[in-house]
Amino acid sequence: MTHDAADTHVPHSDARITPVRSRRRLLGLILAGGAAPAFIGRAVAAQPGSPLPVPPLLDLDASAPQRLEAMAGRREFLAGARADVLGYGQGFLGPALRMTRGRAARIDLVNRLDEPTTVHWHGLHVPGELDGGPQSAIAPGARKSLSLLVDQPAATYWYHAHQHGRTAPQVYAGLAGLLILDDPRAADASLPQRWGVDDLPLVIQDRAFTRGGQLAYSAMGPTMMDGFKGSHILVNGALQPQARVPAAWVRLRLLNGSNARIYQLHFDDGRALQQIASDAGRLPVPVAHTRLLLAPGERAEVLVDFSSGSGARLLSAPDTNGHMADMMGAAASPPAVGEGGVFEVMRFATEPAGTGAARALPARLAGAALAPDWPAAVRRRVFTLDAHGGMRAGRGRGPMGGMAGMGRAGSMGGMMTINGRSFDMGRLDFATRRGEVERWEVRTEGMAHPFHVHGTLFQILSLDGVKQDFARTGWKDTVLVQDRAELLVRFSQRADRATPYMLHCHILEHEDAGMMAQFSVA
Ligand code: C2O
Ligand code: CU
Ligand code: CU
Repeated sequence: MTHDAADTHVPHSDARITPVRSRRRLLGLILAGGAAPAFIGRAVAAQPGSPLPVPPLLDLDASAPQRLEAMAGRREFLAGARADVLGYGQGFLGPALRMTRGRAARIDLVNRLDEPTTVHWHGLHVPGELDGGPQSAIAPGARKSLSLLVDQPAATYWYHAHQHGRTAPQVYAGLAGLLILDDPRAADASLPQRWGVDDLPLVIQDRAFTRGGQLAYSAMGPTMMDGFKGSHILVNGALQPQARVPAAWVRLRLLNGSNARIYQLHFDDGRALQQIASDAGRLPVPVAHTRLLLAPGERAEVLVDFSSGSGARLLSAPDTNGHMADMMGAAASPPAVGEGGVFEVMRFATEPAGTGAARALPARLAGAALAPDWPAAVRRRVFTLDAHGGMRAGRGRGPMGGMAGMGRAGSMGGMMTINGRSFDMGRLDFATRRGEVERWEVRTEGMAHPFHVHGTLFQILSLDGVKQDFARTGWKDTVLVQDRAELLVRFSQRADRATPYMLHCHILEHEDAGMMAQFSVA
């Protein structure tokens, strides 16, 4: 297995490497919301099949703070073209931060960008002032020291930028990474756990490129309405890479780190993805999927059987959520390799399994998050996520009329709403209290939206009219809602009105355009 990054990477075994001096024009030029949809690099050959880069593990504890620098850098995605990117201590993405349940983790955040940013710990239950929401912006050149202490299930979480109005372009440019929470009391020795060998983190993202091999991005018109989707698939920052895995059971920690694209992951030979953990904890028994749906922000840990020695291709069905880009002729999809637009995400090749390889699928999983033993809900709240609010208000319901309306308005702000209101940093949307169980009903209009809440995990009671089994869904912090969902939530940490928690659509273009609300927890 290749532990080293492909040679096109900025070396990143040490997260404290000296940053490339931040260039002011980077975000201004390439990432400004241009009207034109993104171009696909044709002048530069795409080179799928390079070795899967594995992000380095950076252990966090209380002894010495680890530094995490948001910085500009470069990355060669397409052959011969070094793209301007952002990253944490490296060009594009960041190290996998590893924390232990119940032990403080110290981090020094440094902003070496030319614009403010925040770092949000997606899925961690930390008080509002440590949550890295949009109220906690770190100015260019500034730094901030944090100590995070969590008591929640071991799982694969992640961290990413959350600067209001800039979340989508900052994450797109590379400001995201994995966060692994371990729990020694819930250790399961039967699970593959050799990082980069049989325990592989896979950050799946789609991107578009200019002819010169630069990242291309736009969040105007159709790409804002549907969310931005790129025509190239990256895994851990490499274009459709190949992983070498032992001929045994292998654990994949999947994160959909895309701005908007929803994946339906499956293998070309139909082998199962045995899900062992969802967003926020382990499942009691593996749940077999031939297709695994993963919306932006969601994670899943799966075990895959490579013991026969045959490799496989990981594929996805195309994302049909939203149809504005299709109608406008601006839809981007990766090249099809199968019927119905199925495309390749990455490949796996096998090598002989040495000692320490996992030979069987565990029948039961140790340390599973137990079904909640919560008191009855004390109140109910309804959140309606609407992607067409502004259009309806402005020009009636016709989609083309709507597009004309957008042009006239000159801005898409206000189109994306929750309960009819677009996000306003100065407005607290509601206040709740710790320890109280609430029943939240999420309704969606226009298209499916991945609903995410900060500072908690939740239980899904029903989804789109179907009652959900906790043993199959597990604890969640993000859920794709086509129509409506009923959730049970409870908060354990405080978030005051100066640094409230967020709830929002995890299609980042929708979030930036206002499909977000904020609330305090007393
Ligand atoms: Cu993953 Cu509010 O974010
Ligand atoms: Cu979050
Ligand atoms: Cu949305």
